[in-house]
Amino acid sequence: MIVRVADREIACIVTGDGPAVVWIHAFPLNSGIFRGQLTIPGFRHISPDLPGFGGSHKARPMESIEEMGQMIAELMHTLGETKFLVAGVSMGGYIALATLRVAPDQVAAMILMDTREIADSDQGRATRYQQIAQIREEGTAPLAESMVEKLVAPYAARELKAEVRGMIEEASPAGVMAALEAMAERPDSTRLLAGSAGLETLVIVGEDDAITPPSEAERLAGVSGGRLERIPGAGHLACLEQSEIVNAAIMAFLEEVV
Ligand code: MLT
Repeated sequence: MIVRVADREIACIVTGDGPAVVWIHAFPLNSGIFRGQLTIPGFRHISPDLPGFGGSHKARPMESIEEMGQMIAELMHTLGETKFLVAGVSMGGYIALATLRVAPDQVAAMILMDTREIADSDQGRATRYQQIAQIREEGTAPLAESMVEKLVAPYAARELKAEVRGMIEEASPAGVMAALEAMAERPDSTRLLAGSAGLETLVIVGEDDAITPPSEAERLAGVSGGRLERIPGAGHLACLEQSEIVNAAIMAFLEEVV
């Protein structure tokens, strides 16, 4: 369905019935990465395509991760949800933390997958600006080429890689560039998480995640006081690569916190 949030039209999957969970996708993908999770029974699943991505590729991109967190809170309010669980993968995790920052009373619990709480290093930030310059010159094709191999484990099936590539190709160059800048400028969330001690958090990481490796997930779990689940046979998109194992961990968590 299309949900109007301020002046943007956001394509959004809304399915199921029960306590609400908002699923926030990774860069430069879309809600398709959660096709294995949106059937978990007993919950109302809400998964937007962020502006510039997937079915929202025509929506005006957002300039900061903070603005995206605000958008998630407004989207949930529009859908009648005042308290909800937030689940995010990678960039979606950065946005989940921003949602916690802007709307702490609305976040019931968090699932942080293949993500990190710290800001970019100077080197990481510089690389993002180089990528923006390259996209301005050549479009998103070179980024798609290099990213598919990093997003999933090297041994992932060819069909899965093709699916991920298809999602990248749906993104608009403007959306991709804006998200790169937003990620480069995002704040460190260590203090935010450390100060949210009562918030139940599940941290999930693919054993072979090459972008946010298990060492980062261990630190994230330590800071958040959350439980860490390492997923064998998966890279950065564990939710898509090993949805059954990931769902078992998520369902056990949901049962405890809801
Ligand atoms: C993502 O998967 O969302 C991105 O790789 C995150 C990042 O580049 O920091």
